[in-house]
Amino acid sequence: MAQKLALQKNARITIFGGTGFIGRHIVRRLAKAGYQIRVATRRPNEALHLKTGGKPGQIEIVQANIRDDASVAAALEGADAAINAVGILFESGKQKFATVQAQGGERVAKAAAATKTIKNFVHISAIGADAQSASLYAQSKAAAEYGVLEAMPSAHILRPSIVVGPEDDFFNRFAGLALVAPALPLIGGGTTRYQPVSVFDVAAAVDICLTDPRTPSGVYELGGPDVLTFKQLMELLLAEIGRQRLLVPMPFFAARLIASVAQFMPKPLLTPDQLILLKSDNLVGDEAHGFAELGLRPTPIAALLPDYLWRFRPSGKKPAKG
Ligand SMILES: NC(=O)c1ccc[n+]([C@@H]2O[C@H](COP(=O)([O-])OP(=O)(O)OC[C@H]3O[C@@H](n4cnc5c(N)ncnc54)[C@H](OP(=O)(O)O)[C@@H]3O)[C@@H](O)[C@H]2O)c1
Repeated sequence: MAQKLALQKNARITIFGGTGFIGRHIVRRLAKAGYQIRVATRRPNEALHLKTGGKPGQIEIVQANIRDDASVAAALEGADAAINAVGILFESGKQKFATVQAQGGERVAKAAAATKTIKNFVHISAIGADAQSASLYAQSKAAAEYGVLEAMPSAHILRPSIVVGPEDDFFNRFAGLALVAPALPLIGGGTTRYQPVSVFDVAAAVDICLTDPRTPSGVYELGGPDVLTFKQLMELLLAEIGRQRLLVPMPFFAARLIASVAQFMPKPLLTPDQLILLKSDNLVGDEAHGFAELGLRPTPIAALLPDYLWRFRPSGKKPAKG
């Protein structure tokens, strides 16, 4: 089995998904630590701004599509370590859960193993990855994990619960909705439980897994210290942005009707596959390895939200600290 190596501070790291929410935070953190970063994206011209996150010449942007062997292999050439933070929440055109998440995840790991130079590898999966799930998202996450560990047994698989922080899709999206809508829906009554995790903590976990050779390989589940229902998350959000909105329970059958139409929108807010996921709690397993095993103490959600949700407050101003 390929053993992980101690990475030199100028080691070359290729990241797929480095333009995404979690990926951008990983890039910033690893660039700050001094590593040479190569961001592999489908549209390099739209990602040039990422270079400002590092010193001149430290962050390189290259074209790659995780569905394509040649571009994936080229993006990994000469690298000492690699990260896959690619994912989709809904399918569109050639972007299928199977092609992007399952086959794409396996493709990156196989290509990384073939380089012979890459020994350190992190793959971002998700809590709920399950080959038996009725959700194609969850199935594809499980298939990717299997493919990655087959190709690269020394890999680290990180499964976060819902990830929050500056630029997140979750709170920013619902806060935006609260600005224009008199009510927010609670699908299935909003009783599903989550363990929101800070994007800074996820980036720290990636850093440790990738660069510290003492960290045992395998699967880590990443959840924050708070276990909150969807309804509690919406209450927290509304309190944080200082707005009162009705929280209206929506039974699953009604949400299913909406999702069956909404899924055909260019960027659907809800799909039938996401509804399946909404029916199960998204919590770190009792036996799972997580932040504790990585020597990290995750951040409470209340410490995170004030720093980025103030934009949605009626005043539009950042509240003074203390
Ligand atoms: N955000 C969460 O709450 C959360 C929770 C659990 C797990 N995760 C997992 O964490 C990972 C990152 O999530 P995120 O929230 O950062 O996602 P995101 O913001 O939607 O970013 C997705 C990334 O995937 C890349 N991508 C999509 N299709 C691609 C393709 N065909 N080839 C190459 N790159 C492709 C995009 O790059 P380009 O468009 O630039 O090519 C983008 O960088 C995903 O695996 C996700 O499932 C996220």
